Amino acid sequence: MNPGHLIRQAEFRDVGAIFQIVKQHPDTVLPRPISDIAQNIDRFLVCEEKGAVAGAVSWQILPEIGSPKQPSIEIKSLCVTPDRIRAGIGRALVEEAIGHIRTLRPSQIVVLTFVPEFFGKFGFKEVSKKTLMHKIYAGCINCSKYDSPFTCPEIAMVLDGGPARERD
Ligand SMILES: CC(C)(COP(=O)(O)OP(=O)(O)OC[C@H]1O[C@@H](n2cnc3c(N)ncnc32)[C@H](O)[C@@H]1OP(=O)(O)O)[C@@H](O)C(=O)NCCC(=O)NCCS
Repeated sequence: MNPGHLIRQAEFRDVGAIFQIVKQHPDTVLPRPISDIAQNIDRFLVCEEKGAVAGAVSWQILPEIGSPKQPSIEIKSLCVTPDRIRAGIGRALVEEAIGHIRTLRPSQIVVLTFVPEFFGKFGFKEVSKKTLMHKIYAGCINCSKYDSPFTCPEIAMVLDGGPARERD
């Protein structure tokens, strides 16, 4: 990890900065109201650089029919402040998020993305959206950008839930 990056659990004081960074990527990151960010702040990590938030990532547990023993967890709202793109911040955030998510032992980690090459670096593999209907019903169904999740150009990818990381 870059010694200038501090990847840490987000706090309420970060809500405004996260909101602004998400807003800076309207074509690639789904907008989230401040209230939604605040209510889910315990599911966000931020990258702090020189005291400022330079990137964020969050996750959500997808609903499952039947016994919730091995749910899928979606990585969402991954974004880096535009002037710090390609400085290793996205990698540091995703690696930490995967490590954190794996402590919950999900069956798989899911992402819908316009940057499949980036997620491929962590082992994510492209899958048909039809294999992720729980994701479709959890979020895509309310999307106002595309007629159907199946015409949306975002690529669906999954990573095995993998072994749980040792707890810190
Ligand atoms: C996608 C994003 C999070 C990547 O973060 P980043 O800090 O710029 O990326 P990093 O510097 O950590 O790059 C890590 C690796 O991925 C590669 N990479 C980064 N962005 C890439 C892209 N758009 N396409 C392909 N590869 C990419 C880098 O070259 C680097 O490769 P290496 O480790 O082999 O040298 C960032 O560009 C971003 O915020 N984009 C706009 C919002 C967005 O698309 N979010 C994803 C929503 S799912």
